[in-house]
Amino acid sequence: MTPGIEVELAGLRLRNPLILASGIMGNTASALVRVYRAGAGALTTKTVTKEPVEGYRNPVVVELPFGLLNAMGLPNPGVDYFLEELRAVKREVPEAPLIVSVGGNSPDEVADVASVVDVGEAVEINASCPHVSGHGVEIGSTPELIGELVRKVRESTSKPLFVKLTPMTHDIRSLGEAAVEAGADVLVAINTIRAMVIDVEAMKPVLSNKFGGLSGPAIRPVAVRAVYELSDLAPVVGVGGVETWRDALEMIMAGATAVGIGTAVYKKGLNVFEEISQGIIKYLESRGLTLKEVVGAAKS
Ligand SMILES: Cc1cc2nc3c(=O)[nH]c(=O)nc-3n(C[C@H](O)[C@H](O)[C@H](O)COP(=O)(O)O)c2cc1C
Repeated sequence: MTPGIEVELAGLRLRNPLILASGIMGNTASALVRVYRAGAGALTTKTVTKEPVEGYRNPVVVELPFGLLNAMGLPNPGVDYFLEELRAVKREVPEAPLIVSVGGNSPDEVADVASVVDVGEAVEINASCPHVSGHGVEIGSTPELIGELVRKVRESTSKPLFVKLTPMTHDIRSLGEAAVEAGADVLVAINTIRAMVIDVEAMKPVLSNKFGGLSGPAIRPVAVRAVYELSDLAPVVGVGGVETWRDALEMIMAGATAVGIGTAVYKKGLNVFEEISQGIIKYLESRGLTLKEVVGAAKS
């Protein structure tokens, strides 16, 4: 019998453990619907803020042999407009679990955004954007501040609460503990890592913002380590550099219940979801294992 790979995550039922990560094809209804139809188990939207944000001027993305460096500046149309877009996703694919990523300049602003999100099955706090001042890393890398942020947002929504953590800390476990204590249902690890690329002809940083967030295969071992350290605190979504079924299984064996995929969608296209699902099924079949038996297997 073909092993099933459905998972349950804070009450959400996913047909497979693969989640579209925030910020990649998550800006429009048509893109989100395409990703779900291509085989994602759940969808995370682009981070949305209270007011529209234009984002930085180009260049905002640099392709590297081992990943991407981006500093988009969290461009988004603001929550009121965006919710209309998300209603269109729900009309097209009502069964798709939708996680709405929210951000803002202060705990009160993030809570305000979360309080009006009336579409989707869960809310994710982006407490970890490394290249937009005030949007996360300053708050997200201190346990006390992340506790305050999560507590405020927890009071503003009854939806399951996902909290996305930064790896830019000496102690991600303390961040996870503070988030869970304040009401997080799921920890998402990791966001991108602050980094820089310099153009030696121009003798200056390539990105208009100078700094950006590094994603893709370069950060995968960091993400696997973070998941390993967090996964006994709460269910974890492991994100960072997953491109193949082996990479996804690494996250799951480190203790992830589900796996986020971002940069690989750019690099490999939408087939990546189906390809990874099939690879996981084949692996489980060949070993006579269930997915549950593999979760956290590397920890024992
Ligand atoms: C172009 C781009 C935009 C992103 N935008 C967001 C965002 O709006 N909110 C967020 O929480 N993470 C954002 N991320 C981070 C991803 O969701 C993910 O955590 C990170 O890229 C690591 O996963 P990956 O290596 O599979 O891309 C973005 C990443 C990229 C590459």
